[in-house]
Amino acid sequence: MNASESPNPPYFDVLLDRIASGDREAVTAFGRHVHWGLWDSPAAADGSAADYLQAAERMCQRICDAAKIQPPARIADVGCGFGGTIASLNERYQSLAMTGINIDPRQLQRAEEQVVPAADNQIQWTCADAASLPLDDAAFDAVLAVECIFHFDRPRFFAEASRILRPGGVLSLSDFVPQPQMADFMTGGAGAMSEAIRWTYGDVDMSCSLDGYEQLAAENGMRLLACEDVTEQTLPTYDFLCEGAQRWHDRHHAELFLQATGWLRKASRKKLIRYLILSFEKLGDRSC
Ligand SMILES: C[S@@+](CC[C@H](N)C(=O)[O-])C[C@H]1O[C@@H](n2cnc3c(N)ncnc32)[C@H](O)[C@@H]1O
Repeated sequence: MNASESPNPPYFDVLLDRIASGDREAVTAFGRHVHWGLWDSPAAADGSAADYLQAAERMCQRICDAAKIQPPARIADVGCGFGGTIASLNERYQSLAMTGINIDPRQLQRAEEQVVPAADNQIQWTCADAASLPLDDAAFDAVLAVECIFHFDRPRFFAEASRILRPGGVLSLSDFVPQPQMADFMTGGAGAMSEAIRWTYGDVDMSCSLDGYEQLAAENGMRLLACEDVTEQTLPTYDFLCEGAQRWHDRHHAELFLQATGWLRKASRKKLIRYLILSFEKLGDRSC
């Protein structure tokens, strides 16, 4: 099977190998969260794995805060990776019933090993595709999708998120969102970069503009609540990732990673692609 046929992003194969081999930098930086970091002062980023972990935790908390969680609450974290978002909520709140969903059972196994529910919290891990969630209608107060929606069938995920949210519930996510003039280009898979991107990040769709999101929300009985552009605060991520890849033994994959990540860095610096935290409210009769 080649990388583009597997539902598991290729960067997770690399990461799981690095973790299994005891690579301390990989465990520190990505053993909990596998997403971009957020630095309130990007100039203060020091390039260390510990600094990266703190920045990733900050990003996670910012996305969770956009979901306006008020315990007791039921939360679905779709594309939960190693369970870092649920771990963070578990540490910050009580009386949460949380479900982590991921398509890759290897990641769920690590999540289950890493995250121990705090006294008053419940956690379930479920292997499923974001496009078809084995979860009840109107059963959740919040749905989270931290930096993973570009892997999903976006329209089907939106329909599923809307279905499982109660009226007034919130979907909070982060995504790489192209400016309107870039959206068509991204639909074509980012032109010459498409091969490097596919081999590094797998099947990704970064073609949904902010207008596209508002339309998806309207089509699924939701409305955009808030949009925060944190592109500038994510930029130290690229230096950290590219520095790390310089040390990979597999030079072929390191080169592809550097091409794909370097391309995204350039597009982000120019704000052609923005890193947005978006939240949406499920409309409907809250008294039901
Ligand atoms: C960049 S990682 C983010 C992981 C996690 N949200 C975090 O922030 O640490 C993207 C995640 O999406 C998951 N994923 C990809 N396609 C999926 C799908 N169709 N359904 C569910 N999860 C999926 C991947 O396995 C991976 O865990």
